[in-house]
Amino acid sequence: MRFARRLDAVPPYLFAELERKLVEKRAAGVDVISLGIGDPDLPTPEAVIEALIAGARDASTHQYPTNHGSQELREAAVGFYRERFGVELDPGSEVVPALGGKEAVGHIALALLDPGDVALAPDPGYPPYTSGPLFANAEVHYLPLDEENAFLPDLDLIPGETLERANVLYLNYPNNPTGAVVQSGYFERAVEFARANSLVVVHDNAYSEICFDGYRAPSFLETPGAKEVGVEIFSPSKGWNMTGWRSGLVAGNAEVVERYRQLKTNLDSGMFEAVQRATVAALTTARDFPREMSEVYRRRRDLVVEALAAIGLEVAPPKATPYFWVRVPEGHTSESFTELVLEQAGVLVSPGPAYGPSGEGFFRISLTVPDERLEEAVRRIETSLRSGIITA
Ligand SMILES: Cc1ncc(COP(=O)(O)O)c(C=O)c1O
Repeated sequence: MRFARRLDAVPPYLFAELERKLVEKRAAGVDVISLGIGDPDLPTPEAVIEALIAGARDASTHQYPTNHGSQELREAAVGFYRERFGVELDPGSEVVPALGGKEAVGHIALALLDPGDVALAPDPGYPPYTSGPLFANAEVHYLPLDEENAFLPDLDLIPGETLERANVLYLNYPNNPTGAVVQSGYFERAVEFARANSLVVVHDNAYSEICFDGYRAPSFLETPGAKEVGVEIFSPSKGWNMTGWRSGLVAGNAEVVERYRQLKTNLDSGMFEAVQRATVAALTTARDFPREMSEVYRRRRDLVVEALAAIGLEVAPPKATPYFWVRVPEGHTSESFTELVLEQAGVLVSPGPAYGPSGEGFFRISLTVPDERLEEAVRRIETSLRSGIITA
């Protein structure tokens, strides 16, 4: 058998690798606590579940949906963007459903990139910013996110020759994996830069609804001129505990929205109408649910900040996202530290380089586990450190 080479160009999907290790350990009888994957542990809000049930019982949802999405879903998305972000969208041309943010991140690359083109992708970053462009036979130019730059890419460092071939700039704030939030003026600079260099900005807004301490994350589309140069991918996955539902939106520039939709008419047949109705319920009836989730993550975040400080790992509490991006103790690499934590403490954390080369020296903790498991995980790491098995 012969297979297409495009899959070989992509490193093994990080979470598949973590999942494999987890299954292996658990099969060996180890009670592993996984802080590796950002998958909310709490249930989807009741109103969303009810809408799905009612939708599934209505036989009119049982046929092929359209890739445009229902009028009701597009109107709900428009209403949400207006009330939450003060952004006006045309429901007919500026918003379209996606089967989750991940699908949109990957497929938008196929709609925008030709072989030899360049995609500019944050490093560390969500892995599909790399795999999507590679599947399009394009190249990826990494934009390092450094602590000194508040984890914002320095666009002036991109070489001219690369910029000439670049067509897509992925951005993601609040950011996975660093937990960073956008600084004022940065989106404005990105719009100006995209205009000057004919780039399409794809802003991945997967985390705007998980915010703490009064911080409210903006939409990229709030930025003047944003709709001229790009789109935003929005997802209810994290804010409404809907990772399993495969629901999302692409909103903004009408031409990009249409090209993405056109691509998808050839690949999928749209989002199950009952899931569309459930998404409407999330964006309307359950609009405030993410605030409750943010409070849960805030509590867990504070618990972890304190515990990490007690073992000598100082971290600034993130203002958004359920993630901590933590420097490994002196003398360790990301890999050696995560291996050791798994072996000695039975706790799985994500090694930084899994998100790109600039992740070396860091690991990521996800707060998407129940409080008592999180406390137990931190206690176990602390015990290993105190006993000298792991040295900080
Ligand atoms: C930055 C980022 N974008 C997009 C997603 C995808 O979310 P979904 O496909 O569930 O909407 C995730 C999920 O972890 C993410 O971290």
